[in-house]
Order: sequence, then structure tokens, then C-alpha cells
Amino acid sequence: MPNTVLILNGPNLNLLGRREPSVYGRETLDDIAAACRVRGEKLRIRVDFRQTNHEGELVEWIQQSHADVRGIILNAAAYTHTSVAIPDALRAVALPCIEVHLSNVHARESFRHHSYISPVATGVIVGLGSQGYLLALDAMARLIADADAANADGPRSLST
Ligand code: DQA
Repeated sequence: MPNTVLILNGPNLNLLGRREPSVYGRETLDDIAAACRVRGEKLRIRVDFRQTNHEGELVEWIQQSHADVRGIILNAAAYTHTSVAIPDALRAVALPCIEVHLSNVHARESFRHHSYISPVATGVIVGLGSQGYLLALDAMARLIADADAANADGPRSLST
């Protein structure tokens, strides 16, 4: 079964490239998706990259994570600061989650300083632009490898 990592993007990230380029840069979401797929190939990870403007759709995608999904990289965009349903879904599926933001949300308006996602995230990467997605993939590959190694060394393999 391939190791699949879901990369989920929330509202207005479809406008990257022309949306506030001084904050978010000139790269489009397609550029970021392409770079993630290249990095995924190197890491032997299948990248499933998606964007939606709808909170409920993010919840559905998290809930529907297939058995081969090993982790979720999430830029929930504005829903980061408002959603209870998204972290609830993350808790329900109990997959490793890395929260990513292109901008340094802590250096911006105070309403961006609080994240409902961070308490359920394994790690958080902010302020590094599109590089944050690639760093998140590197980190996720390590988390998957560590989990596999722990499984191989665990009590189950000792008894077989
Ligand atoms: C963002 C930061 C959020 O505060 C904002 O609402 C976004 C993008 C980022 O990637 O920097 O839409 O998540």
C-alpha cells in the first residue's frame, strides 16, 4: 500500500499568486502542488493535494482519509482561527497532522495569533512561504518512518 499524505488547503488559497502577493508571494497553489509532488516522489510518498473554500468539505476529506493515508498536512487558512469542527475531525481520525501557514501569522493581526488546529497538530510551520509545505513533507516522512520502525520493533513482531 503506498504511503499517502493528504495536503489540504482552505479558503482563498486558490487565489495564491494574485492574492496579496506582498504577504503570500507570487507562487500559485498549482506551483506549490507541483513542488510537493516532486518532493513526495523523492520521499516515496503519494501526495494527495486539495483545496476548498468550504469548511465542511475539509471536515469530509479528513473523515474520509483512507487506510493508506498516513498523515495530513493542513493549511486551513482563515478556518484556522475560527473552526472547531476541523480540529474535532482531526482528533477523530487520530492521524499525524502538520499545520502550515505561508505567512508568519504571529507577526500579523492579533486574530491570527490563535489557532484551533495547533493543539491537535503534531507540529506547526509558519512564515516560510511555500517552503513550509516541503519541510512539512520531510517531517511527515520521518514521522511515518519512525512509526513503521516502532511497529516493526514492537511487541507484535516479538511474538511472531
Ligand atoms: C494563512 C494565514 C491565515 O491567517 C489566512 O487567513 C490565510 C492564509 C497562511 O498560509 O499564511 O488565508 O493560512
